[in-house]
Amino acid sequence: MGRVTVENLVKRFREKVAVDDVSFEVNDGEFLVLVGPSGCGKTTTLRLLAGLEAATEGEIRFGERVVNRVRPRDRNVAMVFQDYAIFPHMTVYDNVAYGLRSRRTPRALTHRRVMEATRKFRIEHLLWRKPRQLSGGERQRVALSRAMVRDAELYLYDEPLSNLDAQLRHQAREDVLALHEEKRRPSLYVTHDQSEAMALGDRIAVMRDGRLEQIGTGHELYERPRNLFVAFFIGTPSMNLFDVELRLEGERLVASSGAFRLRLPDEMRPVLAGHVGKRLRLGIRPEDLHVPRMAPFPVNQENTLRGVVNVIEPTSAGSTTYLSTLEAEPRDFVATFKVRMPSTYLDKEVPLAVNARNVHLFDPETELSLLHGA
Ligand SMILES: Nc1ncnc2c1ncn2[C@@H]1O[C@H](COP(=O)(O)OP(=O)(O)O)[C@@H](O)[C@H]1O
Ligand SMILES: [Mg+2]
Repeated sequence: MGRVTVENLVKRFREKVAVDDVSFEVNDGEFLVLVGPSGCGKTTTLRLLAGLEAATEGEIRFGERVVNRVRPRDRNVAMVFQDYAIFPHMTVYDNVAYGLRSRRTPRALTHRRVMEATRKFRIEHLLWRKPRQLSGGERQRVALSRAMVRDAELYLYDEPLSNLDAQLRHQAREDVLALHEEKRRPSLYVTHDQSEAMALGDRIAVMRDGRLEQIGTGHELYERPRNLFVAFFIGTPSMNLFDVELRLEGERLVASSGAFRLRLPDEMRPVLAGHVGKRLRLGIRPEDLHVPRMAPFPVNQENTLRGVVNVIEPTSAGSTTYLSTLEAEPRDFVATFKVRMPSTYLDKEVPLAVNARNVHLFDPETELSLLHGA
């Protein structure tokens, strides 16, 4: 029992490498989210943990026990799928009871567990219905109830909320976390949606092309992305990226792209010294661009980017503004504000102040972050 460890896990399907030397741990009681674009190997990773696929290389341990050769039903894993995988010919009650009955659990205990779980997920009035008589949200709660009745060593979720509409998804996230709170076992949750990952994960593991790019808290991935992929994938709208040249002008370190010149904080000089004269990619998060009079730092010529406002989108938090600049390449960028930007700014050129302390710099060849690379 306890933590689940994956070490140098590889899964090949003929010549296709679906999982490429992946290592991570899910600590006891931890809710780890595996996130990445479609096809990056998330489902395969889950299936390896459940024992539905055999690893080509590497080791999977539950606590101290190596489970590579343990059959799926002996691994004691509970899994919630995207399509819920509930039996269409069985009632809700029988679907929820199924896992306990197949493990020969006494009837009275099975009944009590089914009633507790279905009450918790608000489907106790639907026990005698068949799945086709249920809405998508209700089916999803049948799948969660079925995981709830089990005492598994590991809980796996494969995009369980992606078939729900946005309204239901928020409630469903709460339901998933309620299940986790109750069990407090290692849990691995897969999604392609970075905002869902940020909302749910104690830690988040970012995958691309079968490889693990970075693992950390949502905060760490957001503030200290190790490479361009993580930087761009985490956060919405995505980080703005500009092609810049790094220059040392006297004592001042400057990232410049055409007319746009950003003075970088002196603290960055030791790390960046070896890159002076090189072309780099400068990353600026949309919320690190400020309307000058509201900027929480002094504004001057050396931290201002001018852009023409193309679109203003009101959001619950303020507004998202899409702009084009003539000063830097590429030209289009996005800024988010905690206030509404009046529509009178449309088509006008405005100065925006860049919070230079929060910018990111990447080597365009290796795509590694120069500031948070280690
Ligand atoms: N049984 C299989 N045979 C061959 N290729 C597979 C098989 N299962 C998955 N793949 C391939 O492995 C890659 C990862 O798939 P998958 O784990 O389903 O990705 P994700 O869940 O992240 O979308 C994809 O390129 C997919 O086509
Ligand atoms: Mg998948």
